[in-house]
Amino acid sequence: DKGLRVADKGFLNTAVIQSTITYIDGEAGVLRYRGYPIEQLALHSSHLETAYLLLYGQLPTRDQFRLFEKEVMHHSAVHADAETFFRSFRYDAHPMAMLTSAFAYLGSYYSEANPSLQGQTLYTRSTKAALENMDKQIYRIIGKATTLAAMAYRVRQGRDFVIPPPGLSYTSQFLYLMDHMGQEDYKPSPVLAKALDVLFLLHADHELNASCTTVLQTGSSLVDPYSAVAAGCASLYGPLHGGANEAVIRMLISIGKPENVPAFLDAVKRREKVLSGFGHRVYKTSDPRSFIIRRTADEVFKVAGKDELLETAMALHDAAIKDDFFVSRRLAPNVDFWSGLIYRAMGFPLDFFPVLFAVPRVVGWLAHWRQMMMQQGGVKIWRPRQVYVGAGKRDYVPVEQRE
Ligand code: SDX
Repeated sequence: DKGLRVADKGFLNTAVIQSTITYIDGEAGVLRYRGYPIEQLALHSSHLETAYLLLYGQLPTRDQFRLFEKEVMHHSAVHADAETFFRSFRYDAHPMAMLTSAFAYLGSYYSEANPSLQGQTLYTRSTKAALENMDKQIYRIIGKATTLAAMAYRVRQGRDFVIPPPGLSYTSQFLYLMDHMGQEDYKPSPVLAKALDVLFLLHADHELNASCTTVLQTGSSLVDPYSAVAAGCASLYGPLHGGANEAVIRMLISIGKPENVPAFLDAVKRREKVLSGFGHRVYKTSDPRSFIIRRTADEVFKVAGKDELLETAMALHDAAIKDDFFVSRRLAPNVDFWSGLIYRAMGFPLDFFPVLFAVPRVVGWLAHWRQMMMQQGGVKIWRPRQVYVGAGKRDYVPVEQRE
């Protein structure tokens, strides 16, 4: 192990790739997708247009977007057998467990996804056929992410599955698939569809977070992208990462009223509790997404009604951002602090919140996966080393001599 040095805990300052996709400045609180500030994209773009930007590097022309949207929406349908798959879960299975499994299940449909069939050739050669195959898999995963998530939702709610009418937008179709209860003239609320689309866009990518790293680590063995995305889902599920939006609401419910905030913060300082929705590995001043989400929340509350937890969330936020314990540790609200209040106001069940993070995030995972597959000289398997600090050579001891 000559010359090897253990990276800082949690890869604190280890860069494993060069990327042209997303730029974060943790000190300045800056987030840009392919150079475009997130604030401008949230104002002017849509989740699907931003998906095109993240994947292919440029904002699409009208025709490019029309074709991309047509492909994604075409691939949003799933095989009828998927109903049997989802019906195999208990009604109260966590939707993230269902979604994680569903992506691996999805891979079982596509022969070209069988890693042993493709070996080193399919992905490491940027031939036209390989590129088309790669893009078709990307359309399938983005298109089906909403359908699979909606099926998990319907299982969770004990409802039948629905087939959407043609012509809905990506996010409206997602709302339709979840909320349609057989009403003839059902139309997803445009305000809620727009708010969800902004949230999707804000969650689309965030460079090498834990789940994106997992997708790249997994994909570097040239396994199919469905399996790599399933691995990413498993990582995102954790309460330190995408599970934080669910943890924030559980935290707010446990605090109850604003007057209980000081006691809660004392418990956090005693390390008895974690302030979910605060802190970030990269953002040390502010998470730019949290400001946009906070404003979006006000829009949603106008339509869906205010959440009684909002007062407690605001009291907690206002106390923590002034409290030296958090200020000295440079802990600020992150993307998850306010998003859960929006999902709750929209009527989603609590354990569905991480799914609402995973659905848009498959775009960022796939953008990085495509970048890795296209890299010059082909893919190199990710195989870090260790510094061995264990026992030296020793001989086997028979059990009778071990007493
Ligand atoms: C996401 O990486 C990404 O980009 C992720 C994400 C994305 O878009 O993909 O942005 C999405 O995952 C946002 C983060 C959601 N998670 C949470 O809100 C969970 C609560 N946050 C913490 O678990 C924590 O802040 C992390 C996991 C987010 C970051 O952890 P780090 O970078 O390893 O920071 P750390 O644990 O070294 O903390 C530094 C100090 C420590 O204090 P000391 O022990 O040194 O005295 O701050 C403390 C920590 O104990 N601390 C907290 C805290 N977060 C850190 N103390 C109380 N509450 C917290 N939330």
